[in-house]
Amino acid sequence: MDLYKDKNAPIESRVKDLMSKMTIEEKIGQMIQLPAKAGIVEENFIDKLEEWHIGSFLHCTGEGAAEIQRLAEKTRLGIPVIFGIDAIHGHCFEDKGTVFPTQLALSSSWNKDIVKEMAKVTATEVRACGLHWTFSPVLCVGRDTRWGRINETFGEDQWLIGELACAAIEGYQGENLSSENSILACAKHFAGYGESTGGRDSYESEISKRKMLSLFLPPFEKAVKKAKAATLMTGYQAIDGVPATANSWLLRDIPKEGWDFKGFIVTDWNNIAALINRQSVCGNMEDAAYEGIIAGNDMMMATPEFFDSAVKFAKEGKIPEEMINDSAERILRLKFELGLFDEKRHTSPELKDAIVGKKEHWDISLEASRQSLTLLKNDNTLPLDKPKSIFLTGPCADDVVAQLGDWSFGSMQAGATDESFHKDDTITVLDALKSAANDFNYQFDYLKGADIVDSNFDETDLAAEKAANSEYTIVCIGDIISQHGEGHDRAKLELSGKQQQLLEKVKATGTKLIVLFIASKPLAISWVKENADAIICCFNPGAKGGVAIKEALFGELNPAGKLTISFPYSAGQLPVHYDRYGGWHCDNGDNYERYIDHPEAPVFSFGEGMSYTTFEYSNLKMVNSAITEGENPKAQVTVKNSGSRKGIEVVQLYINDIVSSVTTPIMNLRAYKRVELEAGESKTVELEIEFDELSIVNQKLEKFVEKGDFEVYVGPSSKREECLKAIFTY
Ligand code: BGC
Repeated sequence: MDLYKDKNAPIESRVKDLMSKMTIEEKIGQMIQLPAKAGIVEENFIDKLEEWHIGSFLHCTGEGAAEIQRLAEKTRLGIPVIFGIDAIHGHCFEDKGTVFPTQLALSSSWNKDIVKEMAKVTATEVRACGLHWTFSPVLCVGRDTRWGRINETFGEDQWLIGELACAAIEGYQGENLSSENSILACAKHFAGYGESTGGRDSYESEISKRKMLSLFLPPFEKAVKKAKAATLMTGYQAIDGVPATANSWLLRDIPKEGWDFKGFIVTDWNNIAALINRQSVCGNMEDAAYEGIIAGNDMMMATPEFFDSAVKFAKEGKIPEEMINDSAERILRLKFELGLFDEKRHTSPELKDAIVGKKEHWDISLEASRQSLTLLKNDNTLPLDKPKSIFLTGPCADDVVAQLGDWSFGSMQAGATDESFHKDDTITVLDALKSAANDFNYQFDYLKGADIVDSNFDETDLAAEKAANSEYTIVCIGDIISQHGEGHDRAKLELSGKQQQLLEKVKATGTKLIVLFIASKPLAISWVKENADAIICCFNPGAKGGVAIKEALFGELNPAGKLTISFPYSAGQLPVHYDRYGGWHCDNGDNYERYIDHPEAPVFSFGEGMSYTTFEYSNLKMVNSAITEGENPKAQVTVKNSGSRKGIEVVQLYINDIVSSVTTPIMNLRAYKRVELEAGESKTVELEIEFDELSIVNQKLEKFVEKGDFEVYVGPSSKREECLKAIFTY
């Protein structure tokens, strides 16, 4: 038997043995990933499996994937195919798959455990379908809410993104990649893609190397070093004139050399051809293939033409063979680790049916929806206490895709929006409030009221009539799938269609106005903040979002979410992230308004979120107020539940490097804890900052911790006026 087929042999020996038997064409074939459409691979791509020795397919599902795997087994060396899929908030490309809240929604939980659980469930379902790799999590820093893909991010803070991303990666990959609950994670988009200028998707990102090192790369570094992310995906953007795909500093020097990254790097969709037809840095496919390999990409997504050019160059000796060997080895190593050469190669329809969308998975999804909800305002309106009548209105009250969000089959990559997808498993706000009417004994009425895109759809007068006769009116506003996602950026962030008119007419009736914000991103809703009696931010809360929202409205659930992204007054105020700079013409950021027509602070701030109980902070002190090199500073604070019911508080710690050789933001999140407290209970909460997280990147691009004093702010949000302050020295 060939050594590479011996499952008891060490993986490195198996890789070496297999590599020694492979032709250059077979090695280059491993570096290609071909796409499927709506789960099916086209005939001519199936032929390429044998002809080009294709190593990977994406978006292939069901029997189509099983068939390809069987065909691969019959090829000369029988190298298994690795299947990738965008299972980014659950295995959503399967109709019966468990759908979770989007990354942005789930990040409001600030709960690594629930993020990890989401990832585990997703991994289990993906693997049961014979697929091995998810293009998740997204580590883009979501600071420009005009960008169409804000919903895919964990929000605006790079440090929190790194923490939550590690939890997701650990959940996807598990302890052992060959387990039936493990798949490869893919930290994307490497790096700085979310910062594209003006929020324009896949445009240039204006980022200096210093900012790359201090802000955009750290979450990826954590993902690679701490969580051992198996793969990275490049972005579509160029930075300072160099497309990510052609950037050897970004792909080789940083992760492969600098972080000892052992996995492989996949390009984003057709990034190699984009070097020619979008970014115009290459004149033909031969140059593009060359640039792609030299820069350090290991697998080329959806660029079939890569094969011929790469083979030609390799045969002519223009591309060092070690580079091709290195890429092929990285891919094969992971295939061995996944157990794909052994009994883990095939799955069965029975296994899929038993695992996908099983009850335990949906229970976790519901819990994730609960933890995604953030109470942003409450003038003693919630929880509802024996309401006599409720009128529900607004375009997001009964829109399945608005509730599920992008990549739930309503996305560009997954084909046309199909509202029937996941329909059976989704409980909208309308479903939940209609069925609760009996239990809670209220009169219930519903009218859509307004449409998000069609401004001619106008039921606002009728809605106002109904609101006038109701004790409470719940208005579900937000956005829908055609307003976000790839290539769907927004220059205007105001509520579209007749949503604003609907709100104003309802308000004018004197009914109690409760607003549910079901959207892919923060929109400009300062009117809502001023005029609503209560607001719950749900983002895209997932298939069971309706249930979680109903529980929150009636107080069966005490919301504990905190925003991970700021809400701007208007698009003109962007960027408005909390970690802004002080500097000239401002009083260190807090008391000076730079714009003459907008406050400096956002409408809702990073870290903000209320509860049905209240919390008091006192006695902040440093455990060690003078630290030495390598020593983690620790702070202690007393948090008391001063209200009348149990609740969870996310205690946040921010630092400010008081004097530093380069400008630093006025504050940076560096630690937090979710603390559960009974009514009246107090706890001493200890928060620890990792020494390295105090570092800055100086003018010479050196990263280190500078000596000096640091302020520590601890409190319920990033609003400094709500925080207690302490100081420590290094
Ligand atoms: C997106 C990636 C995604 C890939 C495959 C691209 O257009 O940018 O995030 O993983 O397609 O679907």
